[in-house]
Amino acid sequence: MELKIAVLAGDGIGPEISAVGVDVLTAVCEKFGHKVRYEYAICGADAIDKVGDPFPESTFETCKNCDAVLFSAVGDPKYDNDPTAKVRPEQGLLAMRKKLGLYANIRPVQTFKCLLHKSPLRADLVEGADFLCIRELTGGMYFGEKYQDNDKAWDTNYYTRPEIERILRVAFDYARRRRKHVTVVDKANVLASSRLWRQIAQEMALQYPDIVTDYMFVDNAAMKMIQEPCFFDVIVTENTFGDILTDEGSVISGSMGLLPSASTGDSTPVFEPIHGSWPQAKGQNIANPLAQVLSVAMLLEHFDLKEEGALVRRAVDASLDACVRTPEIQVEGGAHYGTKEVGQWLVDYIRQA
Ligand code: IPM
Ligand code: MN
Repeated sequence: MELKIAVLAGDGIGPEISAVGVDVLTAVCEKFGHKVRYEYAICGADAIDKVGDPFPESTFETCKNCDAVLFSAVGDPKYDNDPTAKVRPEQGLLAMRKKLGLYANIRPVQTFKCLLHKSPLRADLVEGADFLCIRELTGGMYFGEKYQDNDKAWDTNYYTRPEIERILRVAFDYARRRRKHVTVVDKANVLASSRLWRQIAQEMALQYPDIVTDYMFVDNAAMKMIQEPCFFDVIVTENTFGDILTDEGSVISGSMGLLPSASTGDSTPVFEPIHGSWPQAKGQNIANPLAQVLSVAMLLEHFDLKEEGALVRRAVDASLDACVRTPEIQVEGGAHYGTKEVGQWLVDYIRQA
C-alpha cells in the first residue's frame, strides 16, 4: 500500500511526540513493505506566528491531498491569558474539523492492566473498562449562530436530521463490531435539540435490532462513567457533551498521555492524541508519546491494515510491561526514559518483531 501522510505537529510538546509517531509509522511500513511519504504543514500558534492564521489555506490543501493527517497538538498560554486575542490556536483545530468535514470523532477509553493503580478510580472499578465515545464534531454549539455584546450573549445548539442520522449510523456500525451496546447521551428532558436526537435514535434503533440501545441524560452519564465505567460499550453524543465526557473518560486510564482518537467524515481523516499541547513540558523530552503512537495504530486500522495496527499496539504494551515509560507513569525506582527513548524502544521492537 502507498500512504501519503500530512504531518501537523503544532505547538508545545506537539513536535516531539509527532517525531515519534512518524518514526513508528515509518518502521511499521518498512516492515510490511508499504510505501509512506510525509508532507509537513504548519498549524496552531506556530502558524499564527508564521503566517497569522492557525489553519492556513496551504495546510488545508496539504491535508486534502493526503490519505490521512497525523496531528499532534495546538495551544499556547500566550493566547489563553489574553481574552482579547482575535486569533487563537484552537480556531485552527475547529477550522480543520469543519473544512475537512470531520463529523465523527472516535475516542476510545481503555485501561492498561499494569497502570490500573494510576487511575484516580479504584482499580477494581476500572479493570476491563473499554468503551468508545463517538462525539459529533462539526455541529452544535461549537458552530451554531453566536452573539455577544456587553450585556448578553448566546450560542445556538443547532442540529439537523442528516447531521444526527450520520453520526448515529457511525455509532451503530461500531457497536456491531463490538459488544453491540449503544448508549445515546443527551439532555432530552430540557433541550429541544436533544429531543430530536432521541427521536431519531429511537427510529434508527429499529433498524439495528441486534444492538441494545439505551438512552441516558448527560448528567447521569457523567456519574455512571466514574461509578461503573464497564457498563459502556459505545457512547454517542453531540459535540459539547462529547467534549466534556471525553475529558472525564480520559483520566480513567490513569494518564491523559495514553489515549488516541480518530476523526473521520467527508474528506481526509485525522488521527491525534486526545491530550493538549502541554506547553510547560515543551522541549523537555518528558511527554508521553503513547497517545500519538496509538493514533498511528488507529490510522493503520482505518486503512484496514490490521496486522500493522496490532503490531503497534503490541509494541506499546511491551514497552509498558518492560517499564520503558515516561516519568508520569514510571514505576518507583524505574529508569528514566524520555519521549525520544520510548520512541526508539518502540521502533527497535517493531523492527525486531
Ligand atoms: C478537544 C479540545 C477542543 C474542543 C478545543 C481545543 C477547541 O478540547 O479536542 O476536545 O473543545 O473540541
Ligand atoms: Mn476537549
